[in-house]
Amino acid sequence: MPIDARDLDAEATYKLLTGVVVPRPIAWVTTLSPAGVLNLAPFSAFTFVSPKPPMLGISIGRKNGQRKDTAAHILSGREYVVHIADMALTDAVHASAVEHPADVSEADLLGLARTASTHVAVPRLLAPPVAMECRLHSVTPYGDTGSEFIVGEVLCWHLRDGLLQQGKVDSLALDPVCRLGGPNYAALGRRVTLQPIAQTAKRVLPPAHDA
Ligand SMILES: Cc1cc2nc3c(=O)[nH]c(=O)nc-3n(C[C@H](O)[C@H](O)[C@H](O)COP(=O)(O)O)c2cc1C
Repeated sequence: MPIDARDLDAEATYKLLTGVVVPRPIAWVTTLSPAGVLNLAPFSAFTFVSPKPPMLGISIGRKNGQRKDTAAHILSGREYVVHIADMALTDAVHASAVEHPADVSEADLLGLARTASTHVAVPRLLAPPVAMECRLHSVTPYGDTGSEFIVGEVLCWHLRDGLLQQGKVDSLALDPVCRLGGPNYAALGRRVTLQPIAQTAKRVLPPAHDA
């Protein structure tokens, strides 16, 4: 069933995008308001864009044409912390998306303990298994709705003890909350482990011919 993209408005397209780009990881972001209130909100339009220096990207839309608190705080303070929540925190992740006035801290409302970060002024949460202290790198607007792709450099990683095994994160132990369309979430399913690509290439490519 072909759908001409020009026939869909932003809302219908958003539903399509969030239905087909699944499952999505969730950046659970703390920022500080200019008055020093700790803001917390989830963003699943989230990926990494560079390994060295490590950089993460988040797409933040607008609410009634205005920047959401997270985007506004990142632009004003230039620092934030991206957390990866595990399944035990699913309810808190969901509830942290409820809109509150800028002087209300979602982290306080949800009773989430925090501690000082080491490289940025924005505190990090203690409960999530991963926290990444970030400094703003760039902001790029896209499209007609004022969405902005915010890229930040990771200055410091905090990983729960035991998560890192020989330099690799044990994804099943991480147990990340994954986002589907609407108010739907998922846990990691069955893990399928294949041969490394170099060995797979030897198996599936024909041997090179001599000239
Ligand atoms: C799991 C989840 C993921 C979300 N992902 C995004 C996203 O990628 N971009 C976005 O603009 N809003 C996203 N939202 C909506 C924001 O979290 C919501 O607008 C929130 O109130 C923003 O808070 P703030 O104004 O404190 O920044 C998401 C909501 C949920 C529940």
